[in-house]
Amino acid sequence: MTKKTISGLALSVALISGAQAADVEVMHWWTSGGEAKALGELKQSLAKQGVGWKDTPVAGGGGSNAMTVLRARVLSGQSPTAVQMLGFDIQDWGDQGVVANLNQVAKQEGWDKVVPSALQQFSKYQGKWISVPVNVHSTNWVWGNKAVLDKIGVGVPKNWNDLILAMKKAKKAGYVALAHGGQAWQDATVFDGVVLATGGVDFYRKALIELDPTALSSDTMKRVFDRMAQLRGFVDKNYPGRDWNLASAMVIKGKAAFQMMGDWAKGEFLSAGKQPGKDFVCFRTPGSQGAITFNADQFTMFKVDKAHQQAQQQMAKAVLSLEFQIIFNKVKGSVPARTDISGERFDDCGKKAIADLKEAVNKNSLVGSLAHGHAAPAAIKSAFYDVITAHFNGEFSSEEAVKALVSSVKNAS
Ligand code: GAL
Repeated sequence: MTKKTISGLALSVALISGAQAADVEVMHWWTSGGEAKALGELKQSLAKQGVGWKDTPVAGGGGSNAMTVLRARVLSGQSPTAVQMLGFDIQDWGDQGVVANLNQVAKQEGWDKVVPSALQQFSKYQGKWISVPVNVHSTNWVWGNKAVLDKIGVGVPKNWNDLILAMKKAKKAGYVALAHGGQAWQDATVFDGVVLATGGVDFYRKALIELDPTALSSDTMKRVFDRMAQLRGFVDKNYPGRDWNLASAMVIKGKAAFQMMGDWAKGEFLSAGKQPGKDFVCFRTPGSQGAITFNADQFTMFKVDKAHQQAQQQMAKAVLSLEFQIIFNKVKGSVPARTDISGERFDDCGKKAIADLKEAVNKNSLVGSLAHGHAAPAAIKSAFYDVITAHFNGEFSSEEAVKALVSSVKNAS
């Protein structure tokens, strides 16, 4: 009997027994192969508890489309039960008085003790838990096809020059050196790692979190844009508009050598049956080692009627339960949103991600991803998106991009 049948059976048993079997409506943007597989683990975990699942997917990496649909739903008084959400967006919703209070389940489950403080700052609004963290992703990663790297005779690049050299060799050998999707959120995801690799974590904090005009207009920021222009020279002509998971597929199939993307890309490699070390390599954006640009997916819980509150609480509890955290994050490519889970059941990339997170927390080199809403609020994030994408598409020189960034960020603040 398949897992699905069992969970379906559990749900029907619950219905027959008259147990409280409300459902939860979940809005999210996990529509790729790897993402859907990970989400399936949550659906099954809830079905076993007799909680039904109304799926509301809103395609579009990085979640901007989902946030647009959410605003319409809340305005029409039809909030979903739970919504996948990132960083500062959670705080914006906390302001609106439409989210649920999760303090009771947080207390009984001991979330304050096990959830990293870097996540709690986004999960809580005015001291109240309003969102349950699902994972910790990070964006300063590069994914390489092992066979391609072996064929062109390069090892894992340790510094920026090695990376550029490897890309040149790949291009010369007829591969797409850098698989990329020309969408603002993807350009910005690459930018996260390039800022960290070029200026270091203190510069990243000053420029992208404190929005210090001197840092934003510095020679270091110009060098960041110069490096983004270098990368632009390694993408293929069909990059505009490509979805991120199709870029991952280019590396998976050996058409491309590298992709610079958050570790949700690992979920695509795993769901394609690929193994780290054998089929692909994962390494930090060269020059950014020892630091992490993170983004944690969370389910923000919205106010629902009494009939659905128990199901909502059950979902919140399931999401941060120990076993689910391991099963889900192994498939998703992220690491657990709890500090009490070791990496022993994770693959080598997962083990590295868990170790890197611990190191970054201890060294205070954990910074929020700008691209995924953990460095600055949405309006500022969009200002960065516009300038980064315009530059990547050749509309700005590096000097012009630096000037545009300073003025756009100032106008959006
Ligand atoms: C991020 C999210 C990931 C993944 C990615 C691509 O914002 O944290 O879980 O969904 O977008 O869509």
